[in-house]
Amino acid sequence: MGICFDEKEKIFCLDTPHSSYRIGITDEEGFITHLYYGRRVPDSNVKQLLWRGFEHPAVYGKTGDQLQYVTRIPLEYPTGGLGDFRMPCLAIETESGSRTSQLYYRTHRICSGKPKLCGLPATFGTEQDCSTLEIECVDTSLQLTVILSYSVFEGLDAIARSVRIENNGTQRIRLTSALSACLDMPNKNSDLLTLHGSWAYERMQCRRPLTWGKQGIGSRYGVSSHEENPFIALMDHTATQTQGEVYAMNFVYSGNFLAEAEMSQQEQLRLVMGIHPDGFCWTLDSCEVFQTPETILVYSCSGLSGMTHTFHDLYRKHLIRGAFKDRPRPSLINNWEATYFDFDTEKLLSIAKTAAKSGIELFVLDDGWFGKRDDDTTSLGDWTVNETKLPGGLKRLSDEIHALGMKFGIWLEPEMVSPDSDLYRAHPDYALQNPEREPILSRTQLVLDLSRKDVRECVYAMIHAVLSSAKIEYVKWDMNRPLANVQSAALPSDRQGEVYHRYMLGVYELQERMLTDFPDLLLENCSSGGRRFDPGMLYYSPQIWTSDNTEAIDRLKIQEGTALVYPLSSMGAHVAACPSHTNSRVTPFATRGLVSLCGCFGYELDLTKLTDAEIGEIPGQLEAYHTYGDIFRTGDYYRLASFSENGEYDVLSAVSKNKRTAVIVYVQVLSQQKRAVPVIYPQGLDETTMYRCTESGEILSGAGWMYAGIPLPVMKGDYLGKLIVLEAMEDQK
Ligand code: GLA
Repeated sequence: MGICFDEKEKIFCLDTPHSSYRIGITDEEGFITHLYYGRRVPDSNVKQLLWRGFEHPAVYGKTGDQLQYVTRIPLEYPTGGLGDFRMPCLAIETESGSRTSQLYYRTHRICSGKPKLCGLPATFGTEQDCSTLEIECVDTSLQLTVILSYSVFEGLDAIARSVRIENNGTQRIRLTSALSACLDMPNKNSDLLTLHGSWAYERMQCRRPLTWGKQGIGSRYGVSSHEENPFIALMDHTATQTQGEVYAMNFVYSGNFLAEAEMSQQEQLRLVMGIHPDGFCWTLDSCEVFQTPETILVYSCSGLSGMTHTFHDLYRKHLIRGAFKDRPRPSLINNWEATYFDFDTEKLLSIAKTAAKSGIELFVLDDGWFGKRDDDTTSLGDWTVNETKLPGGLKRLSDEIHALGMKFGIWLEPEMVSPDSDLYRAHPDYALQNPEREPILSRTQLVLDLSRKDVRECVYAMIHAVLSSAKIEYVKWDMNRPLANVQSAALPSDRQGEVYHRYMLGVYELQERMLTDFPDLLLENCSSGGRRFDPGMLYYSPQIWTSDNTEAIDRLKIQEGTALVYPLSSMGAHVAACPSHTNSRVTPFATRGLVSLCGCFGYELDLTKLTDAEIGEIPGQLEAYHTYGDIFRTGDYYRLASFSENGEYDVLSAVSKNKRTAVIVYVQVLSQQKRAVPVIYPQGLDETTMYRCTESGEILSGAGWMYAGIPLPVMKGDYLGKLIVLEAMEDQK
């Protein structure tokens, strides 16, 4: 397992438990070629795979058709301009106007561990649990060094890839595209799977057959976006949850991205991922370095479940950090849907008192506590407490909340400024905008130019002051509009193509700084609901607000799409009011609790308006969260039935890593008069262990439950749910 180099054949071998990746170096030119990625094979010499129905130009003689060759050869990091007409990963312009580049092998290094990516979120590991290959390539005429980096992790079918580009020449060059990863593979009649969406409807699964030409997804919003998540997978046409091959890519970045598949005329398949080249142009002066963000490659030969398990385990162990990495997350009450902007200390405390009595652990004060903010038209940037609403400030409120035995958290939107704010009046140039045009508002706000150090200093001083002003244990960091009319007052005209990426680096720097100064803080990222639910954010916040759609039935689909890639432990999931503020649907309190139980559990409604019966249900819901929360957080997730597919019911489960407990969440969305009730087949149990079902009291072996299945309980009515637990019997195997 790991990484080695076959000196004789000049082949790099990357092996994970179930996958192999082979990289070659062509004898004649020294091109870095892609030879194989797929199911684990013992062989290193898979060179024959290079010649997929075409011949090396040498056989044509000196006058042969070199273009036939370069446009077909499978490459690890294709460049542009020299006859490979497929999508390039690297595109360069020189001062003399040249737009061509070509990379040749120079040397390589294999080391234990994984170097940090400066200023960027990335997976990490120790010398014991991961190793890294760096292949150094060179473009001699440009004097450019390009380092392709590959890391593999103990026990995981994942490879982390990124690229470092160093300008060792004397002339200035411009990178017009610098993607992070490429996979050139034979066409296997695959389907393409992506996660698309919109506000309050994030991460819907979209599967379609791959065809000729380019097809893909991306974001130019300046954030990873509601519309497309930075995830793309190729899967067998026949692959299912449990069977078939899946090749997935996920981008550890929160800004503009491109994920594209291209099938060429020769049916060669190229899959690329990286920063979106539109709006990107990075000037690299002599001796300067550009580091791309990281792309995670996951291979599964056991369908989508295998892919999901790898992403979840990788992210829980090698991406999520901080005090809450391995800790249960507190149950919370958030006042947003309870009060919106209309609150005062008394109102908040009335909710907090009911919450404390019910056993909720954390009170979160959402938007509206600062400046003159009584609606969303004002005051972003003026992070001083509105003492009319909250006399005594955050300190007094926090003290009162703590006196009730709860922790205290707040909402912040540090990346933004309202035109109606003291900050904007003093520094209009702090906002990203083209001074020759009218500012483009969204939610009556502008985006601060975090590519600028002075703006970051100003923003950080405000964050620091707020977090030091009271005992604050949690921050919901929001970001409520995309970037548009993007121009920085601090960069010259020929460097404006750097603003989007510099902005993201600025956001990352701020979050890193905040977590360094306040290491015990629990950070939850949020962006207009789930617009920035991506691995980049997970590096800073162990949990992310999944969606502004808090309605339990819509949430089934949203959480299913999210959990395809991201751990359940990262999904903020709250019980909200009925009729739902998003879609007016009315669902039972118990079902809302059940749907939220799978994620970071909380409430987002006015507890003082609940009926006694509903209030009476809260302690039971919290008990379920405390009893089973760890299994959802740390266990293996299985999708047993999908409401998105069957239109009637939804079943998921989480199985503890030691296979002693399986928690199954069943939601009957629509009640149907059927002759036979559906049977579900649990997964991930130990075949020979005996398990007792808490629902029916029945005892069966793991094999019995998994292969004979569980008929779903009959319930009369729509939107009903059940928690079914299979518990291993003591002293039995
Ligand atoms: C965004 C968030 C919400 C809430 C509001 C406050 O829309 O997604 O949860 O915090 O902002 O303005």
